[in-house]
Amino acid sequence: MAKTRRLIAERLRQVDAVCEILDARIPASSRNPDVAGLTAGKPRLIILNRADQADPDATARWGDFFRAAGYAVLVTDAKSGRGAGKFAAAVRELLADKLRAYAEKGQSGRVARVMVLGIPNVGKSTFINRVAGRNVAKAEDRPGVTRAGQWVPVDRRLELLDTPGILWPKFGDEAVGMRLAFTGAVKDEILDTETLGCHFMAYLAAAAPERLREAYKLPDVPPRDAAETEVGYGFRLLEAAGRKRGFLLPGGEIDTERMARILLDEYRAGKLGRLTLDSPE
Ligand code: G4P
Repeated sequence: MAKTRRLIAERLRQVDAVCEILDARIPASSRNPDVAGLTAGKPRLIILNRADQADPDATARWGDFFRAAGYAVLVTDAKSGRGAGKFAAAVRELLADKLRAYAEKGQSGRVARVMVLGIPNVGKSTFINRVAGRNVAKAEDRPGVTRAGQWVPVDRRLELLDTPGILWPKFGDEAVGMRLAFTGAVKDEILDTETLGCHFMAYLAAAAPERLREAYKLPDVPPRDAAETEVGYGFRLLEAAGRKRGFLLPGGEIDTERMARILLDEYRAGKLGRLTLDSPE
């Protein structure tokens, strides 16, 4: 991260504004913890991407939260393109004072430059492709690979700079790591799929029990026993859901690993409905 910090700090001098792309399902967990401080001196725009997968009420509350903190906010679904068409106008509005000052100096044709930041899997490449209207080379997310920042024209007066370096999420905070794993932003190897599924089941039982009931035809979602661990509780729910789905192993045991995989796949594919895991409150 030290290297990325340095690269961002160097390139910040060349841009007029910063656009930070977040996953609208996890706007807090998908933020790199250094970016807010690093970019404090610039006009800033937050993109709540993957809005098609997030709860619309939660997205509206997150929008209010970031606006109150001084950011411009744009809600997008880069996959379908919804919202992306408003990007250039949002940047011009954010930079209105600066652009007016340029015009007064006779530099109205000056190109506005925006640095686009985002941790892997928020949809940054898809977003850049959308707003630039063509296929730009896919950013390299592998660790250790240096990425020379490239300028990507959006129109005659707006250019983007893709993240110089790799921005990591907030590792070290267990709840954050878990949410990144639930959404698939970090790979399942961090925890084995079954254990991750247990945690997600326990999370859903507390945060959205009605979704569990509907998706897995459970008559009720039992509360967690006082003596039960979170994983133990989630396992019990995985068994209940797996039983309903008929996921049986040869000996008649329930295939909880398969159920865990299905649960995570179905959430990521939107089959549990639009569900936001971080709350601004
Ligand atoms: P990154 O650069 O931030 O790492 O992410 P990238 O654009 O590569 O997007 C990662 C995956 O997320 C892609 O799916 C992409 O289509 C999807 N995606 C990006 N933005 C959105 C969005 O707003 N909504 C939804 N639902 N999905 C989004 P993929 O599985 O890798 O490919 P594909 O399924 O599109 O073929």
